[in-house]
Amino acid sequence: MRISPLFCALSLCVCGVPAVFSQAVPPPAQPGNSPAQPVTFPAQPPQAQPASPPADAPYRNANLPVEQRVADLLSRMTPQEKASMLAGSGWMESTPIPRLGIPAIKMADGPMGVRSWMGSSAITSAANAPAKIEATSFPAGVCMAATWDTPLVQKEGQAIAQEVKALGRDMILGPTVNINRQPLWGRNFEGYGEDPYLSGRMGVAYVQGVQSEGVIPSVKHFDANNEEYERHRINATISDRALHEIYLPAFKAAVEEGNAWNIMSAYNLVNGAHMAENIPLLHNVLQNEFGFQGFVISDWGSTYSTAPTINAGMDLEMPGGQRAQQWMALPQTAQAGNGDLWLTPDKVMAALTAGQIQQTQLDDNVRRILRVIIGSGLFDHPHPGGGEVDTPAQRAVALQGATEGIVLLKNDGNLLPIDTTKVHSIAVIGPDAGVARTGGGGSSLVRPKYAIAPFDGIRDRAGNAVKVSYALGVGMEGEDPAQDSTETRAADLRQAVEAASHADLAVIVVGRDNKIESEGHDVPTMELPAGQDDLIEAVEKANPHTVVVLNTGDPVTMTRWVDKTAALLDMWYGGQEGGHALAAILFGDADPSGKLPVTLPKRYEDNPAYGHYPGQNLQVDYAEGIYVGYRYYDTKKVEPAFPFGYGLSYTTFQYDNMGATPRLARTGNTSEFGVTVDVSVQNTGTRAGAEVVELYVHENKPKIDRPERELKAFQRVELQPGETKWAHFRLNRSAFSYWDPATRAWTTDAGEYEIQVGASSRDIRQKKIIKIPASFLNPR
Ligand code: BGC
Repeated sequence: MRISPLFCALSLCVCGVPAVFSQAVPPPAQPGNSPAQPVTFPAQPPQAQPASPPADAPYRNANLPVEQRVADLLSRMTPQEKASMLAGSGWMESTPIPRLGIPAIKMADGPMGVRSWMGSSAITSAANAPAKIEATSFPAGVCMAATWDTPLVQKEGQAIAQEVKALGRDMILGPTVNINRQPLWGRNFEGYGEDPYLSGRMGVAYVQGVQSEGVIPSVKHFDANNEEYERHRINATISDRALHEIYLPAFKAAVEEGNAWNIMSAYNLVNGAHMAENIPLLHNVLQNEFGFQGFVISDWGSTYSTAPTINAGMDLEMPGGQRAQQWMALPQTAQAGNGDLWLTPDKVMAALTAGQIQQTQLDDNVRRILRVIIGSGLFDHPHPGGGEVDTPAQRAVALQGATEGIVLLKNDGNLLPIDTTKVHSIAVIGPDAGVARTGGGGSSLVRPKYAIAPFDGIRDRAGNAVKVSYALGVGMEGEDPAQDSTETRAADLRQAVEAASHADLAVIVVGRDNKIESEGHDVPTMELPAGQDDLIEAVEKANPHTVVVLNTGDPVTMTRWVDKTAALLDMWYGGQEGGHALAAILFGDADPSGKLPVTLPKRYEDNPAYGHYPGQNLQVDYAEGIYVGYRYYDTKKVEPAFPFGYGLSYTTFQYDNMGATPRLARTGNTSEFGVTVDVSVQNTGTRAGAEVVELYVHENKPKIDRPERELKAFQRVELQPGETKWAHFRLNRSAFSYWDPATRAWTTDAGEYEIQVGASSRDIRQKKIIKIPASFLNPR
């Protein structure tokens, strides 16, 4: 953390601990996992409340620089007021200080839109409106990542922020940028897939969109929240290199490029310390290495101590207040791994008095929160609410995301797009066909005003010309026990086969629901839920013109049927417009342009974390190191079902004319090393389409073991039939560097690199070897 000397001096001279707090007090509760001991703090003698500062106090002046206002405000706060800001006042609100005009930060869960929230607010309070808030349900993060469309993700962030404000809130708890380490994390759907660079681009875009509206995002969950299993207690052992190359870059990008105002600390431990008190990662990396200036918020109930948490730079504990106390009193809260609130004002003051935290530290925590309250505009322009949500413009963004995110995995014999001159009847089948499965479960699940199921979308689009029928095929395992019996299963299957055999085309939508794929627990198996493989096989046998659609966030095993399947799509969780998006792709109104942000392995046993998940005795060893996702499959030559970056289109693209040139650009006295890469892409088909051009870097003779290739740039190019466009890239030093465990620093070696440009990690269309001379890396 870079604390300016001005701030230290200011805080020391004006914020001395008053005598009343230096009297003997019981020691504060001990940090760690021991059962929480309530701290009883002696009753304070009544204190005269300082008067409210004058209307012309510098901190109230919107024309002054943020840092000056923050310093002024901090100088006027009592120690108790400062301490009170480290805890929430409700389930979704920070603590306001009315005397100074400091507002509560009113939060809403995300990241896929505004989730209805619990707690005090004008809108959800019993006296006022219906308790449940409805808002636009945007596609899951993994679906947005499959678009590779950063401007669109930025628009999504902006649309969500507009809804946040319309509903009278100030902060959205998203984006989720945790890496998909293995196929069974219950929250894989929320994040942006397996690649740190792609996750970083998406995270930055989301943050920029949200912040452009003066709304505070929360980049979560810092760090290495890659499984739900025992999330309060699991300790992930991760090498420094894997942290820097895989699990930190998306946060780094959000901070350094997105200038993110907030980061959420994760529940889990990393290398022996809970994330909320993890000095190496919070203080040394986030604050010192990345230069993070905003505040850190805890995940809900992810604090486990007082002084160590504050000293590590974890600034705001959530939730707080009465609602949080009731929650903590529940036996299941303690069972899950927490049973107390740790940053309540009494505990913070006791730790201060006992010298376990310094006044300068407390000032730093508070300063960070104030910096965001003032810097985001919240102080000067509160969000009164009363605006509109789910507007046509917001819906359009949701629809575009759902459409661009759909990945066409197979299309034998050009079964798709549906040719309505030949197809007059469609049987829509499956446990995910008649219900809109908009997202996975847990805190990210938005309650939309409406949601389009695949069957609705297909029927709406087909109009009267094509007869569309529906059959369940098989109930979603565990959803309705009545549908799980052997007899009902057999009857449902018969009906589906019947429907398929009488239709020109069958569309089966399989996958999971938001109970199976959810926050709070991992997915038990990579297999599809009971009966779904049987359903696919039976329907494909009855009708070879069958399209299989996956409606999941995680990879699933497809071995039994995938080779025989003619057409296969992955629609992920598409939010409220998922059904319309699917129909647009099936009928060819939109060209499929989504690409996999995650490898789909053939078998669960093939995944890099196999044998090292979920861990034993609450210890999980990230033994695969940096070999996550395609870094593993491509380097170790493990054949996946579908590789990272893969996705077909209804048209075809030709890559040509690749050039790659290392350069030393001089500006005045400084020289900057970079490599320019250009490649032309032509749409060689007869339909308009978009191609995501992926750029990977491979080092020829690395000094240290390195993955076969690493994604370092990409560009989504829209092309009319026959049209050619150039994709231009400028790679900087970071595209060639690795984290050297020996020096504990990013290192770039001179030598030979192969720049690979292609349509997936396994479909490299053009490559060029470049030589980077040492003189370019260390210019004089
Ligand atoms: C989740 C967070 C969420 C928070 C508030 C936690 O359980 O992990 O992602 O923002 O709850 O609902």
